[in-house]
Amino acid sequence: MRHEGIVSKLSLWQKCALLSGGTAFGTRAVASVGLPALQFADGPHGLRHQDEGSNHMGLGESLPATCFPTAVTLADTWDTELVRRVGAALGREAASQRVGVLLGPGINIKRSPLCGRNFEYFSEDPCLAGEMAAAYVAGVQSAGVGACVKHFAANSQETRRQASDSELDERTLREIYLAAFERCVRKARPAAIMSSYNRVNGTYANENEHLLAEILRGEWGFEGAVVTDWGASNDHVAGVRAGSTLEMPACGLGSARELERAVEAGVLDEAVVDARVDELVELVLSTREAVEEAPGYDELEHHQLAREAAAAGIVLLKNEAPAGGEPLLPLAPGTSVALVGDFAANPRYQGAGSSLVNCTQLDTLEGAISMSDDSLAAAEVLASRADVVLCCLGLSEAAESEGLDRESLALDEGQLALLACVAKANANVVVLLSSGGVVECDWEDQARAILYQGLGGQAGAMAALDVLLGRTNPSGRLAETWPRRLEDVSCADDFPADGAVAAYREGVYVGYRYYQTAGVEVAWPFGFGLSYTEFDYEGLEVAPDATSATLTVTNVGSRDGAEVVQVYVHKEGGEVFAPARELRGFAKVALAAGESRRVTIDLGERPLAYYNVRTGGWEVEGDAYEVCVGPSSAEVLLSATVEAEGTGAPDPYAGLEIESYRTGQVRHVGDDEF
Ligand code: GLC
Repeated sequence: MRHEGIVSKLSLWQKCALLSGGTAFGTRAVASVGLPALQFADGPHGLRHQDEGSNHMGLGESLPATCFPTAVTLADTWDTELVRRVGAALGREAASQRVGVLLGPGINIKRSPLCGRNFEYFSEDPCLAGEMAAAYVAGVQSAGVGACVKHFAANSQETRRQASDSELDERTLREIYLAAFERCVRKARPAAIMSSYNRVNGTYANENEHLLAEILRGEWGFEGAVVTDWGASNDHVAGVRAGSTLEMPACGLGSARELERAVEAGVLDEAVVDARVDELVELVLSTREAVEEAPGYDELEHHQLAREAAAAGIVLLKNEAPAGGEPLLPLAPGTSVALVGDFAANPRYQGAGSSLVNCTQLDTLEGAISMSDDSLAAAEVLASRADVVLCCLGLSEAAESEGLDRESLALDEGQLALLACVAKANANVVVLLSSGGVVECDWEDQARAILYQGLGGQAGAMAALDVLLGRTNPSGRLAETWPRRLEDVSCADDFPADGAVAAYREGVYVGYRYYQTAGVEVAWPFGFGLSYTEFDYEGLEVAPDATSATLTVTNVGSRDGAEVVQVYVHKEGGEVFAPARELRGFAKVALAAGESRRVTIDLGERPLAYYNVRTGGWEVEGDAYEVCVGPSSAEVLLSATVEAEGTGAPDPYAGLEIESYRTGQVRHVGDDEF
């Protein structure tokens, strides 16, 4: 108990009332003990704080704030130092608007590319998502306010999100859907965690003792506040007992009366209420100073940071040279460019829903390059006269959003028609893609170069120009695999579940963990991205316990740039099934042309472990493991073998008929096997 002095002065009724919201985004104050109200505000890539009349679906105006790149773009930077700086800027803006806890980051794993909120989440891989989350949280909290990591847990679809029951085995839960939260809680100690709307194996996340009491608080030692998603509390007494601190939004005093009656009836121990009140008091008092100081911030400085982050998150997917010429990008000085596509004038730079930001300013490519485009005919004429066509494509705001899942990965017909039209008129087409998630790219042969900028925030257009003109060398890498078609996705038959249960039949085979194990060709692999320069790797040394890998990286090209060195672990012929390759660490290395640097990459405390459902712990099978190093999940440049001692745990799958999981061929797993 950290605030015995305060908690002991509160009546039972006051304590019960404190455990639910006082307003749409605020807690209750108790002046007699000097406890002020705390304000929450969305969202993960920019403040959405409304000074009056709040709602939680992004409706109505909020106060102006910097709209940073959304999580999909921040993750594509693979740059934890940069993401920490974005977090710190978000924390300063929260404090300046007297917001004590920012409701972000969103770190749910991208189980399917169809999830409507993928723009708001980092990755399909829990190591990358967890590192991004830890950096973001450290940044936000360096400004004296709290971060609230969401949505805990296995909230992987928007369809029926307030009722859907995520059904998954314990190993999949631990290794895929909890691992990013665990990494973030252990590394950055977030002030709060948001419990999600959905059920997990039959019990609502907010009332789930296994999740909140046993794992989050019991195993990971989380001492912060668990705040429900807005409307995610179903049984407040059960929630408080399970370890959920605060029911949001304000819902009257009914649930406070329920709590009081439960304590008086002896079905809820008052000490449990006291523990939850102590967490709430800590959340309010630990952020109070920053909120009361409410320091200002430099809007232009934040806009420049948004531009830097957007540029660092741009992934160069393709950059071909016309016959006998140089690669199309960066554009040579004096190149005449035809700019086509509505996004050039009306950029897609963020997603719809509770994360929506009223940005302080908005860059557009049209503003940056003069543009004229009103019909296919006009576009064709324009394209035929220019050296290069810059075609702005992507997903419309209606195609992806909180509260709904996508039905297709395809771009809309109008955009495909525009591309076909300009590609007919000019072979030098550069496609600039803005989307919060994967799009089918069966049209990619119509473009000589493709840049993917996720949803780049208010400065995304200038960031794109920085890369197009070579002012910035692209260094983004995909944080999500781009499959060739929807039916290649491991959960394609189950996603989104429109009935009571979302069965995670694919188990641990999510994203590249599936495509690589099952040998499915993809458009662009996890971790992939090109550069305007080239890098060499040499001299790999791996610690005997595989907790770190050291190597020398050299920029052998003629331009300064940054490489994302990725380290994966692989076990050949293991007794316990496992994905072919799993990311265990990475480093972004900025190198001047010709520069070399020896880097050491941390691979975490349990690089070789799997979660054993029989022993209920992290075990190591033992013998040989391969540590593979490369610029993407699909390209190994160096590898080393390490021999490990096993922990002697029994094979949890001995004697089971689970061939789909042993081979990774999980597209059609039956009920018995699942
Ligand atoms: C929404 C979202 C959550 C958001 C909260 C408050 O429903 O699920 O991410 O922070 O409510 O707006």
